[in-house]
Amino acid sequence: MPPSTADFDGRVALVTGASRGLGYAVARALALAGAHVLLVGRTQGALEALYDDIRAEGGDATGVPMDVTDGDALDRLGAAIADRWGRLDLLVGNAGDLGPITPVSHIAPDAFEKTMAVNVTANARLIRAMEPLLLQAEHPRAVFVTSGAASKARPFWGTYATSKAALDAMVRTWAHEHENNKLRVNLLSPGPVRTAMRAQAMPGEDPDTLPAPADVAPLFLELLSPAQTRTGEIIAFER
Ligand SMILES: NC(=O)c1ccc[n+]([C@@H]2O[C@H](COP(=O)([O-])OP(=O)(O)OC[C@H]3O[C@@H](n4cnc5c(N)ncnc54)[C@H](OP(=O)(O)O)[C@@H]3O)[C@@H](O)[C@H]2O)c1
Repeated sequence: MPPSTADFDGRVALVTGASRGLGYAVARALALAGAHVLLVGRTQGALEALYDDIRAEGGDATGVPMDVTDGDALDRLGAAIADRWGRLDLLVGNAGDLGPITPVSHIAPDAFEKTMAVNVTANARLIRAMEPLLLQAEHPRAVFVTSGAASKARPFWGTYATSKAALDAMVRTWAHEHENNKLRVNLLSPGPVRTAMRAQAMPGEDPDTLPAPADVAPLFLELLSPAQTRTGEIIAFER
């Protein structure tokens, strides 16, 4: 049964990478379903535009302009959530960096570090900062966004693939650590979606052949709903 708005009414949700693409669509869908959504991203103007859209549609949100690689800022965000709500119901680790598409031997060290910082280390810091708050929620749910690239070993995608493989290992491990309590944690693999990142990776592709972020949002809500029992899985979006 698809989740209903009653499942999200009054929940506190945090979505990283909410300024555009998949994160924007998921944050908006959660807010329209009644959650108060914390919108994390670096582009303040885009977060404000999303906030305005959400308010115009009767939802509620708070913009949190920040770089997810600032681990201390994530700790401060955790403290602020604890002060205001005392819990976090829903966590979506979506912010991502494509990194260079290039042979492994050509990967510039700083570009590799940056992709690992956004796709892996930031999510480790997010888990560290948010776990105590999630454990205060009635039906805590977390979803992280991975990619089929993690297991394909496709030439030139080494930086991104390595980062998503590391994310998969970390998130599945975290899920297993909580198998015996109420926290449910999964990875969502969206497949190709019509976003800025996909256009950067595949500039020659016709974006109109791809699903829109809003098409994938319902699967996020399904994985975030109180009825969700799966945990430690990689769940692929199918068109
Ligand atoms: N699109 C696809 O085909 C596809 C396929 C498989 C997996 N994915 C995954 O889906 C997720 C979302 O990607 P997308 O396609 O929606 O890409 P996108 O449109 O480029 O959006 C990426 C988001 O991540 C945020 N972000 C990046 N670096 C950040 C940082 N250092 N601090 C805070 N926020 C940061 C960006 O916000 P700011 O720039 O405002 O900070 C933006 O909101 C990623 O994890 C990606 O790997 C996408």
